[in-house]
Amino acid sequence: MPTLGIIGSGHLGAAVARLAVAAGIPVVMANSRGPESLAGLTAGLGPLATAGFTEEAARAGEFVVLAVPLTAVPALPAAALRGGTVLDACAYSPRRDGRITPLDTEELTTGELVQEHLPGARLVKAFSNVLAHHLPQLARPTGAPDRSALPVAGDHSDAKRAAAALIDRLGFDTVDAGPLSASWRFEPESAACTRLYAADPDVPRDRLREVPALPVPAEGLRAALTQARRVRVADRAH
Ligand SMILES: NC(=O)c1ccc[n+]([C@@H]2O[C@H](COP(=O)([O-])OP(=O)(O)OC[C@H]3O[C@@H](n4cnc5c(N)ncnc54)[C@H](OP(=O)(O)O)[C@@H]3O)[C@@H](O)[C@H]2O)c1
Repeated sequence: MPTLGIIGSGHLGAAVARLAVAAGIPVVMANSRGPESLAGLTAGLGPLATAGFTEEAARAGEFVVLAVPLTAVPALPAAALRGGTVLDACAYSPRRDGRITPLDTEELTTGELVQEHLPGARLVKAFSNVLAHHLPQLARPTGAPDRSALPVAGDHSDAKRAAAALIDRLGFDTVDAGPLSASWRFEPESAACTRLYAADPDVPRDRLREVPALPVPAEGLRAALTQARRVRVADRAH
C-alpha cells in the first residue's frame, strides 16, 4: 500500500491518519504552518507518520486526503495533485467559510467546486459526511457484522474503486453515491450526513460531539442516500 498524503491535519485529517497508521499505511501530514508544527502529532502517530509541506503531502503517494477548510482549496498545489486520487473530505460551512455563491445557488456541489480548483485530480468525495471523532468509534475489520459504510462520489470510476479499497483498509465499507453532481445527497444537514451515525440523531447541534457513534451498515446508508432531499444550501447558517 503506498503512502497516504494528508493535507489538513486538524480533527478530520488526524482521525484519518490514525486509521491509516493502524492499518500499516504510511502518512505524510501537512498543514498551513509547516512540518515543525506537526512534530507532536506525528510523534503520537508513530514511525509510519512524517510531516511535510503541503506540496510534499500532495506528491507523497497515489492518494491524498484533503481535510482543510473550503477557503484553503484555491491555494492548494493543483499541479502536484494532477493525476492523483484525491479523497476530498471538505464540507461547506457558511459560518466558517463565508457565503460561496455557486454553492448557495446549488449550481455546484462542494465536490464539484473542489474539482474545479483541482483540474486533473481524480476527485472522490469521501469522509465529508462523518464526524471526525466518530471515525475511530466506527472503524471495524473487513467483514465485521457491525461494520459501517461511508459514501463515495466521483466522476472517475477507477478512482472510486481505488478509494473504496483504501477505505476498506481503514475500516469501512463504501456505497457508491454516484458522480460529484450527486454528492449533495450526503452534504451537511442531509439524511446521509453526520447525524446518521449518531446514537441520538435528534440531539441539539451543540451537543452532537458528546453523542457516541452508531454503526450504519451499507443498506442503511443506501436507504438514507435514496431518501435524501436536497438541502436548501442558502438557508444553511452553519
Ligand atoms: N471535523 C469534522 O468532524 C469534520 C467532518 C466532516 C467534514 N469535515 C471537513 O473537513 C475539513 C477539515 O475539518 P477539521 O474539523 O479537521 O478542521 P480543523 O480541525 O480546523 O483543521 C483544519 C486543518 O487544515 C489546515 N489548513 C488550513 N489551511 C490550510 C492550507 N492553506 N494549506 C494546508 N493546510 C491548511 C489547518 O492547518 P493549520 O492548523 O496549520 O492552519 C488544519 O490542520 C473541513 O472542510 C470540514 O468542513 C470535518
